[in-house]
Amino acid sequence: MNTRRQFFAIAAGGLAWAQSPNPDRPKQGMIVRSVRPEDLEMPPSGFDDYITPIEHFYVRTHVLVPQVNLRDWRLKVEGQVQTPLTLTMDEIRRMPATELVSVLECAGNGRSLYSPTVAGVQWVNGAVGNGRWRGVRLADILKRAGIQQNAVDIAFDGADTPIGSMEDFQRALPLAKAMDPNTLLAYEMNGESLPGKHGFPLRVVAPGWAGDHWMKWVTSVRVLDKEFDGWWVKNAYRHPGKPVVPGTALAQDAMTPLRSLRVKSVISSPVDGAQILVGKAVTIRGAAWSGDGGPVTGVEVSVDNGRSWKRAELGSEQSRFGWRLWRVTWTPATEQFYTVLARARDTSGDLQPLTQEWNPSGYLWNAAARAGVEVGREVRAPASPPSAASSNLEEPPRFRSACLACHEADLIQQQRLTRAQWDREINKMTGWGASVAPEERDSFLNFLAGKFGPRP
Ligand code: HEC
Repeated sequence: MNTRRQFFAIAAGGLAWAQSPNPDRPKQGMIVRSVRPEDLEMPPSGFDDYITPIEHFYVRTHVLVPQVNLRDWRLKVEGQVQTPLTLTMDEIRRMPATELVSVLECAGNGRSLYSPTVAGVQWVNGAVGNGRWRGVRLADILKRAGIQQNAVDIAFDGADTPIGSMEDFQRALPLAKAMDPNTLLAYEMNGESLPGKHGFPLRVVAPGWAGDHWMKWVTSVRVLDKEFDGWWVKNAYRHPGKPVVPGTALAQDAMTPLRSLRVKSVISSPVDGAQILVGKAVTIRGAAWSGDGGPVTGVEVSVDNGRSWKRAELGSEQSRFGWRLWRVTWTPATEQFYTVLARARDTSGDLQPLTQEWNPSGYLWNAAARAGVEVGREVRAPASPPSAASSNLEEPPRFRSACLACHEADLIQQQRLTRAQWDREINKMTGWGASVAPEERDSFLNFLAGKFGPRP
């Protein structure tokens, strides 16, 4: 009911809602991947900060930010418990608090680096940040309610409502992760009350696990006596866990839910395509982190395509789940094109691979970081990028009203998909409420595949 009303409010262009009472910061210097629902990427300079400031922290939203009024807000603890609870924020804040530093990384971070390309928000490296989270241990909440012996999964629901006929975004944690003393229900981020777009007033903090587990706007914690099988578990955030033929579609049930992040480093400087001077020292630097296998124990850098590696110096600030800054000084000796590579190793011995195995949704990218730099006697004016060969295909007449009702064109324009992939996207969107008549379908497909087809 609610859902349909919202959809029509949006379709009618009236977007007069969605702000949390908690004022959200402007998106200073952020890379906007989608205006609504809002997806913002941290720029590469963000990897120079140990703690990512809130205004640089990436934002990933599947839906619009719900309006939450603390006076009415309650956390329900229900399901297989001895005493179901209804808690106010004051009651939660009176419980013992825990604070920890942890990386939060989107499962799809690095998706744009996959080839063949896959559908989804085209993140480069910045769908990640390192935050200081404060809140109550989820285990303390569960113990207070008294979980029963048969508990298997802990499912979460949030105050957000779906767009169109999309399924409500609900996710779960297995019992062991939920009871881990580092798993929190956080009400603060970097010492401030959680901003709306980061989950005000309460979000899950699941250190070491991908962002899809970090449910925002939590209103319900439900103890289940079986594995949670909601739509967003069965149809998203799944990984084949083994090599598959690049570019092929895989049935969701041929894949398993992804959980832990992988060991990874990112180069913040020099940026890919930089020009630097021969004989002059530069600092190669960045950040590195891991998931269950962490923390990172070392980072090494190569400027000769992996023939030799130099150990990077690690920053002094560190924590079990936070990222580690690193740096290496390098004086390029000859005028040539270099590829700078960086790879991290973690406590479990995992090392970043040099090449990435492909997967159908472009999750968990962690190939060695790479930046191409040109070393010369002077810095030349950058060559102007080749003008995009834009096809002058005509937009089908009903395209705008059918496809730009719930989001802007940005989500569409950043994709580079084959006809088969566009076909699947149209199915997904009509499933969520987009109306595409059978006789218009071909013209939509021709337009999308012709205009936003794979890169040559
Ligand atoms: C009923 C609302 C609605 C309509 C209408 C709609 N979309 Fe979407 N679409 C969404 C939402 C919501 C998302 C973001 C989902 C997310 O972030 O998980 C999205 C995301 C996308 C994406 C990003 C990739 C992905 O799968 O998340 C593409 C591409 C896209 N839409 C294409 C289209 C096209 C093409 C049409 C017209 C045929 C269309 N959309 C119509 C709701 C809609």
